Amino acid sequence: MLSLTNKRILLGITGGIAAYKCAELTRLFTKAGAEVRVAMTRAATEFITPLTMQALSGNRVHLDLLDSEAEAAMGHIELARWADLVLIAPATADFIARMSQGQADDILTTLVLATAAPIAVAPAMNQAMWGDSGTQANVAALAQRNYHIFGPAEGEQACGDVGLGRMLEPDELANACAGLFTPGQLAGRKIVITGGPTREAIDPVRFISNHSSGKMAYALAAEAVQAGAQVVLVSGPVHLDTPEGVTRLDVESAAEMLQAAQHNVGDADVFIGVAAVADYRPELVAKEKIKKQADEMQLRLVRNPDIISEIAASGSGLLMVGFAAETENVVHNGREKLAKKNLDLLFANEATATFNSDHIEVTAISAEGEQALPAANKHLMARKMLELIAAKLKTRNT
Ligand code: C5P
Repeated sequence: MLSLTNKRILLGITGGIAAYKCAELTRLFTKAGAEVRVAMTRAATEFITPLTMQALSGNRVHLDLLDSEAEAAMGHIELARWADLVLIAPATADFIARMSQGQADDILTTLVLATAAPIAVAPAMNQAMWGDSGTQANVAALAQRNYHIFGPAEGEQACGDVGLGRMLEPDELANACAGLFTPGQLAGRKIVITGGPTREAIDPVRFISNHSSGKMAYALAAEAVQAGAQVVLVSGPVHLDTPEGVTRLDVESAAEMLQAAQHNVGDADVFIGVAAVADYRPELVAKEKIKKQADEMQLRLVRNPDIISEIAASGSGLLMVGFAAETENVVHNGREKLAKKNLDLLFANEATATFNSDHIEVTAISAEGEQALPAANKHLMARKMLELIAAKLKTRNT
């Protein structure tokens, strides 16, 4: 039974056809024990009346930033402080764009900026608008700011299209909101993640490396913290900020990465190898900068340790999760790596499309089978991946 006892939910409604579902949503919230206050954009009032929302929430609806009567009852800053959760449902493409820009030119955008409460967003729009790269970039920006993105779902749309863009159903949204008040699915778990490239020195100024941006590992680290985990991120050199709550250990070479990983997995539950580790390193590192003399030069390379295999082989009992960035036979090669490296779960993807991109499309491979995870920005994908990881941890413990 859904419980939101004494939770204060500020429901922000924007102008999409799914706004009519907010009546049912509010009913579910209040039935679960929540107190609901509603703020609407002008466009939202074209789809559902403020009077309906007032009757169902039992509170006056906020429509204008500069409404002296409403401000006298509860000012917008007070309202922003009052909320335990702000839910924007439905969130139109336009409203998502305005939020992502940090605008504050109406009551709802202002509340979003002013609140310290978690913010959840339930996108609802035409499938092409959802798929548009501008919308995706805006959603990714919100996810990066730790907004919770609920949905959208796939299916028939009011405009007749079929695809991703439907707002989640009221019961799904109410459950997702309740989930934010319960400990995360990874609460009490420790996760060690490797990310980014490694650099293998040739001499004091040169190295061998690769194009890995570290974005996937950093998204996983940020989302794992959101899900309640303690996260250690062993990171190769990348140009990314450390996500809040993550312990980051900077390393350069594969040998350093292995050592840092080994030092930190002792009390961990999960190891996720996202790093694009250089497979080979120069056998000798020149002490001084190598001079340009001969017409040709040969660099002798030796194998680097396979970090994830070493951790898996150490018998630590960790849940082992790997990645496989392939340029051909993605799933077949991924399955081979799962077996060879002794992993519990592996995410296989096409390599060249992924490096430095904000988006990724993967196939999750485990002993139980394969599951294609459709293209999404790396933060949303990270959440999906962590759900699969949490489910695996659960079945292990039962
Ligand atoms: O490079 P490869 O395709 O074998 O990488 C597959 C998985 O193994 C990835 O999870 C990667 O982080 C990990 N790996 C590693 N150490 C290496 C090479 C790869 O941990 N030396």
